[in-house]
This record gives sequence, C-alpha cells and structure tokens, in this order.
Amino acid sequence: MHIDILTVIPELLESPFQHSIMKRAQEKGLLTVQVHQLRKWAVNEYGMVDDYQYGGGAGMVMMCEPLTKAIEELSGLRQFDEIIFLTPDGENFNQKTANSLSLKENLLLICGHYKGIDERIREQFVTKEISIGDYVLSGGELPAAILVDAIGRLLPGVLNDETSALTDSFQDNLLAPPVYTRPVDFRGWKVPDILMSGDHRKIEEWRQEQSYIRTKERRPDLLDDE
Ligand code: ADE
Repeated sequence: MHIDILTVIPELLESPFQHSIMKRAQEKGLLTVQVHQLRKWAVNEYGMVDDYQYGGGAGMVMMCEPLTKAIEELSGLRQFDEIIFLTPDGENFNQKTANSLSLKENLLLICGHYKGIDERIREQFVTKEISIGDYVLSGGELPAAILVDAIGRLLPGVLNDETSALTDSFQDNLLAPPVYTRPVDFRGWKVPDILMSGDHRKIEEWRQEQSYIRTKERRPDLLDDE
C-alpha cells in the first residue's frame, strides 16, 4: 500500500512512522508513506496556501489552487482509491473503516489547518471525510498518523503473529480480554489460575467471556451493532 499525505507541517509526521510496527511495515516493503509539503504548490513565492474567508469571520481557509495542483500532480503518479480529508465533521473513524481501507492500494490523505479547506476541494476531489473523534484538533496531521497506524498494522505480513490483529479489541465488536505476563504473583496481585491451567479450550472460553463482560460494562453500544 502507498499513502501520500498533504500537509503544511510535514515535521509533525516525521516520527510516527519511523518506529515499531510502522517502521517494520515499510522495511518489509508492505507500506510506503510519502509526506508532501503543500507549500510546494503555493500560489506565490512566500509559500501562501491560505487566505481570508469570504463572508468574513476569524480564521484562514486553505486555498483551492495549491490543493488542486497537489492533488492533480499526485493523481498523475497514482490512481487513488480514496482521497481522504481529515476533519472533525467527517464520519467517525473505527475499526471497520480501518479494515476496509487496509484493502486499498493507494490513499491520499489531506490534513486541514486553520478554519479548514475551501469547500470546492471537498466537492471536487475528496471521496471520504474522516474524523477521529468528537473533539477539535489544531490540524489533520495527528489524525492522519492515527489512520496510517491503524491501517498499516492490518496489512498482511506486517504483524509477526498473523492472528494478533484478529484478536484486537473491536475486530469482532468486542473489547479485548485482560492480559498478564510474569511474575504470576506480584505483591500478592495474582494472575487468574485459569491462564496457568494449560487447558487451551478453557482459556479460550475464559477470554471470550471476559471480552463479553468487559464490553457489556464499558461499551454496551458495541453489542448493539450488527
Ligand atoms: N482535524 C481537527 N480535528 C480533527 C478530528 N477530530 N478528526 C479529524 N481531523 C481533525
């Protein structure tokens, strides 16, 4: 999978993909991420990419021209499956969306800033609008990093243990069960006996039950989804 990201602050996206699973995904050639400075397509030599909004009001708006030029140039290099704008008024990002995006070949992510991007870009180019939650961040860069991480770890071959993404929280609309590691007794805080029993069927049953209990307590709404 190849992901292009358009941003006015590429520095914010320098570190998130250089460690751990995202690093491995790229080293294995399963994922490539290219971060582009939108100012490369600025309307003047001062790197202008935003302007005052028509109708008045505080806050700048990202202009049509730099975004259009950037999108058209990148679209000449790749056929994008989705052009995604990160925005608080987009559809809420969840595991289902991550799963479906992980099946795509080429994604273009657009990080908004200031008051947002000119509406005409959304109308003309954007195929999907995604929010990472009901709160407003100062830009789309952190949401973009979250998207890339959530999608990248699902690509076949990225995780060492192929089953591990399947047992993540949300994959079957259930939260993950509790997990423990050594020592078995730390300050008198004990690991449940069942996990030491060696009975894999019973352990699996216990995990399923714990997942269900946890989901019912913390996220009963997930049990209502089909
Ligand atoms: N940009 C600013 N806030 C955001 C959010 N919650 N989700 C996606 N993009 C955003």
